[in-house]
Amino acid sequence: MYDFKPDAALAPSELYRELLAAADSLTGDEPDAVANMANVAALLWDYLPDLNWAGFYRVAPARASPALELVLGPFMGRPACIRISFGTGVCGTAAASGATQLVEDVHAFPGHIACDAASASELVVPVIRDGRVVAVIDLDSPLPARFTEADATAIEALAALLSARI
Ligand code: SME
Repeated sequence: MYDFKPDAALAPSELYRELLAAADSLTGDEPDAVANMANVAALLWDYLPDLNWAGFYRVAPARASPALELVLGPFMGRPACIRISFGTGVCGTAAASGATQLVEDVHAFPGHIACDAASASELVVPVIRDGRVVAVIDLDSPLPARFTEADATAIEALAALLSARI
């Protein structure tokens, strides 16, 4: 049994240090990408307060064309939209640009895709391997402006850790 337990009293930086250590330990020796994304989604959900969705979208071939798009991966939260085109919504913008999207108010983001009406703010971080976006990590919160630059930096470190493991 794994027994990773977040301590609610920890400062955010310490919480992230423990989250990254847990993610490293769970994924370091496991080659299966789905298993690794599933465990990391569970860790994000457990460790980070005030989330209503935490998980992955993977870059994969579109159904009817050779183009690439984002396809829903392992997550925690309510069922979500399955396919997102590059450049669409917060996730598609992160995938197309390769840049983290820190959105304080999702309703003010052009083209935001509302998978859960409760979402108010969002953080999407691309996972980059060999110079290409291979997935994004998506965090949603029911609180406006839930995510800070410190959250973005920490999730970028998590994305770098997972780059060759998902
Ligand atoms: N809000 C995202 C879609 C994914 S859900 O939040 C899980 C977007 O605009 O890309």
